[in-house]
Parts: sequence; structure tokens; C-alpha cells
Amino acid sequence: MSGLDTPWVRAQFPALDDQVALFDNAGGSVPARSVITRVTDYMSKYGVQLGASYARSVQAGALVDAGKAAAAAFVNASPDEVILSGSSTQCVRNAARALRELIRPGDAIVVTDLDHECNIGAWREFAEAGVEIREWQFDRDTQALTMMGLERVLDSRVKLVAFTHCSNFVGGIHDAKSFVKRIHDAGALSCIDGVAYAPHRRVDVQALDTDFYFLSLYKTFGPHQALLYGKREHWDRAKSLNHFFLGDEAGSYRFEPGNVNHELTASLPGILEHLLALDAHVRGVAQPDADVQTALSRAYDAIAQQEASLVQPLIELLLAHQQVKLMGPQTHDAAKRVATVGFTVQGRDSAGIPAMLDAQDIAIRYGHFYAHRAATALGLHANNGVVRVSMAHYNSHAEVARLVKALDRALS
Ligand SMILES: Cc1ncc(COP(=O)(O)O)c(C=O)c1O
Repeated sequence: MSGLDTPWVRAQFPALDDQVALFDNAGGSVPARSVITRVTDYMSKYGVQLGASYARSVQAGALVDAGKAAAAAFVNASPDEVILSGSSTQCVRNAARALRELIRPGDAIVVTDLDHECNIGAWREFAEAGVEIREWQFDRDTQALTMMGLERVLDSRVKLVAFTHCSNFVGGIHDAKSFVKRIHDAGALSCIDGVAYAPHRRVDVQALDTDFYFLSLYKTFGPHQALLYGKREHWDRAKSLNHFFLGDEAGSYRFEPGNVNHELTASLPGILEHLLALDAHVRGVAQPDADVQTALSRAYDAIAQQEASLVQPLIELLLAHQQVKLMGPQTHDAAKRVATVGFTVQGRDSAGIPAMLDAQDIAIRYGHFYAHRAATALGLHANNGVVRVSMAHYNSHAEVARLVKALDRALS
């Protein structure tokens, strides 16, 4: 079978073993060794305060700066356009607070009913300031956001549209670039949730031309942190969240009150190191490509291909079971979905199914996954939402075979 060299890939992730098959990766991926060693190194050798003139402080500062630069390179942005925080939820709340004075009473904001609440709740709070909140509703049959749905809520009063690049609930990928173009034509800004997309596909904020984009680094093989990209022109107009005496020269620090976590930020080059090593390994060369953006694109192409072949047997199993309703795209096609699969089983509580697999050390889960409004719209709360199986490129075909066998029994 062609595809990634799975033993090599798995060797890059110390938390993986042959005992437990981890299919809860949309909840959080395990960290790459290259990330873990950087956290340990930083804490063992530095651990001093930044910004002082003594050598160790200068060296520690350089490592944190390099982490920031790596986070920016990860999404093809420059470091002064990226803010880091402990979670995507916190990033969006920071952005919403910083933009508070730019969206005025009488303006409108569009949120979806498919997104994780992270990209809804913070924007809905603008209603308290007299901003109209409109809901871009997903197509109930396909569980996807559509251009037609967007057209229904867009007009010249809309100042910002917040939507998801990929649903964490059903795994469907959206044509975010086309949405952004339409949003810009209407004179509004876009804020894209890339959390469910970034572990599986390359993020290029410049190609998307989006105004804001965020993702959780703990789902992209990194530490428990998140990044939010914003175009420089928006940060320049936004209100600082930091101390009054920190002026424009403070750059993105203006939106990182309390500063970033030093040791975790210093570990972020480890994410790139893993992806670049993966690309080099696939190409059979010893050295990673110096052209990071090209290498990232190739690495993610390999990841997409691998994940499609991993998820195919699962999709086929679910489509073969008559009482199963597979959510989102009815295919393993990498252009349409990521390897995050949500489904319900007629007459069954979703909570019952993961429990049947727990005993076999196959880790999946159930719930609304904070896409609470989507679960409401689909009437899924009474049966505890969907069963979700989410894969990463480090899963093996052997694990998938175990999963499919166990699920087949649990569904019969
Ligand atoms: C699609 C999506 N958006 C946002 C979030 C929130 O991320 P965080 O835990 O970093 O706040 C999650 C977390 O699961 C998610 O899946």
C-alpha cells in the first residue's frame, strides 16, 4: 500500500503505542517529539525572565521569538500579524474585545449555527452594544455552509462574518476562499475558525485573503496553545488589551495581555520540524527543504492522501449500515472532508457506542463537541449528539482495521 511510512511517523510521537488506538484527535492530537524536547530544553536551560540585558535572558527571548516566527510561518503570515494565547476560545475573545470599538450600534455581525461556540459566542456578545446578530444557517441535509445561505444574511450593514473552514462535528470542508471573496465584496471582514482544518490541510492565510484566522496548536501536534492571525491593518486599528503605557511599538504584545507562555512558545518550531521532516522522509532526502512554505504544502498533501486512505474503510462501513446516519460529506474524498467523522445510529444513544469500544482500547467519543447550535438544529441533544471518530496522519491501517471490526460489532 502506498502512502506514509507509518512506523516512521509514529516514532515521531512518543505518546503513541500499539495498545491504545487513538481516534479522538479532533479533541487534541498528541505532541510531536520535536515539540516535547523543545519544552524540556527551554525549561531545563532557561526559565528566566525575558527582556533583560543578561545573556540568558537574551537567549531565552530569541527562542520565544523563534517560536512566534514559526507560528506565523505555519499559516504563511508575518510574526507581527499573529497573536498567541492558551486556546482558540481565548484568542477569539481577545479579538472581539480588541475590535469592540470598530463595530458600532446599527452594524451587523454574521455568525453560523454550525461553528464551535468559540466563533459564535464572543461575536454574539456584540448584541449588548446594539449590534444586530444574524445567523448564517447550514444546509440541514448536507450539514454544510453554502453560498446561498450566506447571501441570505449579507448586506452593507454587515461588518464581520465568522465561519468555520471545516466542521469539527461532521468533518466537511468549506470553500473558505470563495466565502471570503463574497464577504469582502459586501464590505465585511472575515474571521475563520481553522481549528478542525489545520491538523489535516495546509493553512495559507494569504491565499485565503482572510482578515482573521485562528487554530489550536494542541491539535496540530504542538503544545496547548492557539494562534490567531489578523491582517496588520486591522491590528493597527484595534484597541490594545495590554497596559496603557505599551504603545504601538509593542506590536502583537498589545493583544497578548500577560504575555505568551514562554516554554510552549519556544516549542512551536517543533511543529514545523515535524512537518518538514515528514516531507523530507516522503521525498527520500536527508535534509528538510529550506523553502518552508513549499515543504508545508507537500507535507499536507501527503497527510491528506494518507488520511483519505485511512478513513475510507470507516466511511464504507458506516454507509453499509442502514441504521447509521453519516453526517457531512458521504465520501472519503479528501477534497470534501477531513478524517473527522460524525454519525448517529437510529434508536441508539450516541453515548453507548464509545463505551463499547473503551474496553478494547479504541478511543472515540460522543457529544455535541461545542457545536451546540448544530446539535440543536439537527435535534440531536436527546441522544447525546453524534459519535465522533477522528483520525490523524499518525494513525495506522492496523488501528483502523481494529476500529472497523469493533464498530461493526457495536452497530449490529
Ligand atoms: C472547530 C473548533 N473550534 C474551536 C475550538 C476551541 O478550541 P480551544 O480549545 O483552543 O479553545 C475547538 C475545540 O475543540 C474546535 O474543535
